[in-house]
Amino acid sequence: MAYILGIETSCDETAAAVVRSGEQVVSNVVASQIAIHWPYSGVVPELASREHLRALVPVVRRALEEGGQTYESVDAVAVTQGPGLAGALLVGVSYAKALAFALDKPLIAVNHLEGHVHAVLLEEKQKGNRELGFPVLALLVSGGHTHLYMAERRERGWTYENVGQTRDDAAGEAFDKVAKVLALGYPGGPIIDKLARHGNPEAVKFPPAYIKGRPRPGRSRRRAGADTPGFTFDFSYSGIKTAVLRYTETHSMQQVIEQRRLALAEMKSAKADEVLKLCDHQTLDLVASFQRAMVADLVGKTLNAARELDVATLFVTGGVAANSELRAAFERDAAMAGLPVYFPSRPLSTDNAAMIAAAAYPKFLAGKFAGLELSAEASLPLK
Ligand code: KG4
Ligand code: ZN
Repeated sequence: MAYILGIETSCDETAAAVVRSGEQVVSNVVASQIAIHWPYSGVVPELASREHLRALVPVVRRALEEGGQTYESVDAVAVTQGPGLAGALLVGVSYAKALAFALDKPLIAVNHLEGHVHAVLLEEKQKGNRELGFPVLALLVSGGHTHLYMAERRERGWTYENVGQTRDDAAGEAFDKVAKVLALGYPGGPIIDKLARHGNPEAVKFPPAYIKGRPRPGRSRRRAGADTPGFTFDFSYSGIKTAVLRYTETHSMQQVIEQRRLALAEMKSAKADEVLKLCDHQTLDLVASFQRAMVADLVGKTLNAARELDVATLFVTGGVAANSELRAAFERDAAMAGLPVYFPSRPLSTDNAAMIAAAAYPKFLAGKFAGLELSAEASLPLK
């Protein structure tokens, strides 16, 4: 049995957690920075780093206390090395290095994206589900990423092959930018998720993103058949964001949006039901139609990749995996395709440190420890 302290500071959540042997969440503390970034409708990197500096020590202390642990009792310290905001990552990495050194405990570097995959594995193990079918295809859909990975469990841990990704904006970024264009508050995803229930998703038609095929090297291509023409599993979301902006211009929505922007500027943060009161039917229809188009694209392209790559299991993870319509559509369409699909619970879909501690466990078993020369890597790839 091993207790791993996980630390996560890659973006706008300061998080620490204790996880037992990669399968039991002992404590999970997340300090959100929403109120700090709210006035800017997006994450301001300098403010994020400063807030991590302020919040990290108390957050770690709380995670240990709530888990009935002490600095001395944990078996290892795991930290997100990247990808993410360089300054934000640096706070977590420097702190974890100092802590591991002072306590003389192993230090484990974790890729944030691997953390999102392990959020699913952790909870499935916690529920007693140890029989996953392989190969696994993981859709990682967050504010910074929309990536498809083939994930494999090997003797010395997990390996990942990237088989598709966004060519421009990430899906969560599109949710956040559309919320900014329409003045709905920040972060956009959870607000749009709630507002969309009040609009007509058929009201506005968005053309599907056409992506010119490019041949893909590697194992996944062989699996799908090397002669598959124009073969691609990529995504693109900058077009739909521009389409929403154009729609507001051609439908004279600017005045309504500006009024809402002024009303929200008065508040420090607002819940979706408060934003709802500031929305007319046209806005709600646009929001519902945007979400419908995003969901259709994510689900359609992922299931297409799953079919072509002949996978046995699907994971959907990352902040956008918290979206209700996305979950329902995946559950419905994957069931029709006879494909088991797994999501993390909502609290573990968005950024947290339990997923970092869980992803560290196979590395702990394999003795894959980081040295004190470890540095944060803003563009760390997942392999
Ligand atoms: O994984 P995450 O917490 O941070 C990154 O690694 O990026 O994801 C944050 C993203 C944000 O873009 C946020 O708007 C989106 O996830 N998000 C959602 C929902 N909850 C969070 N998007 C759609 N529906 C949601 N319910
Ligand atoms: Zn994330």
